[in-house]
Amino acid sequence: MQLIDGKEVAASLRKEIKAEVEKWVAAGHKAPHLVAILVGNDGASQTYVGHKEKCCGEVGFRSTVLRMAENTTEEQLLAEIKKLNENPDVDGFIVQLPLPKHISEQKVIEAIDPHKDVDGFHPVNTGRMISGLPSYLPATPDGILELLKYYKIETAGKHCVVIGRSNIVGRPIANLLSQKGWDCTVTICHSRTKNLTEVVKSGDIVIAALGVAEFVKADMIKKGAVVIDVGITRVPSDKTKSGWKLLGDVKFDEVSPLCSYITPVPGGVGPMTIISLMKNTLKAARKEIYE
Ligand code: GUN
Repeated sequence: MQLIDGKEVAASLRKEIKAEVEKWVAAGHKAPHLVAILVGNDGASQTYVGHKEKCCGEVGFRSTVLRMAENTTEEQLLAEIKKLNENPDVDGFIVQLPLPKHISEQKVIEAIDPHKDVDGFHPVNTGRMISGLPSYLPATPDGILELLKYYKIETAGKHCVVIGRSNIVGRPIANLLSQKGWDCTVTICHSRTKNLTEVVKSGDIVIAALGVAEFVKADMIKKGAVVIDVGITRVPSDKTKSGWKLLGDVKFDEVSPLCSYITPVPGGVGPMTIISLMKNTLKAARKEIYE
């Protein structure tokens, strides 16, 4: 069993991006500028945005975090988005999700100029992705592809089983792996799937992205399978300083001995998602997607 080390891959890609930024700036351009809007006080979101800000500094980007109160209205948030759409000094921006319940996430996503949508969540970008056109790829699916590439994991003709059909992970990764160049035969499983254990057990590559801690057990995994765990459920723990720990969607201890490759949680897919955001921001600054 080979552990897929997301921290190592992320560090390697971070170096490559930093070198590209240095070239870009040396050629007389401004450093790419990423803005993150953070609404409310969600603990996990604050941590994620902090990590994104830190990574921007490491690769040589400019970054700004706009913090807005929990009781911000939808109109106020949409007005802020309009300003960022129109600000030529901002290359790309994200609105950290989840948003407070009184704000429509879909409306917010659709208000972002697709040219600056470095999360790749706008329907124009998802549509372009599905059509095989250049687009900003969503962070988690792109991170998974980078891991497969780094470890030279064969995908052509393999049966990939994706568990979960979310807009930000399950559906896009299933689509991308079915495209030319990756060439997987893909099955998407969800809460209404019949004989789930048998279906997952037929997977050469299993991507667990349903958000249920330790859902995937040893009896669901074929010997030699590649297992990618996207889950990040926080559970209370008396062994950590923070008082909680992260669990994946895979019961790691019993599944890992069966695998050819497996991602740990934390330290697998997680560190890669920020790298994908940095890749998209560099593309936005260079105007690579739409020009
Ligand atoms: N919340 C969890 N993942 C993400 C992400 O990739 N982008 C944004 N904006 N919010 C998130």
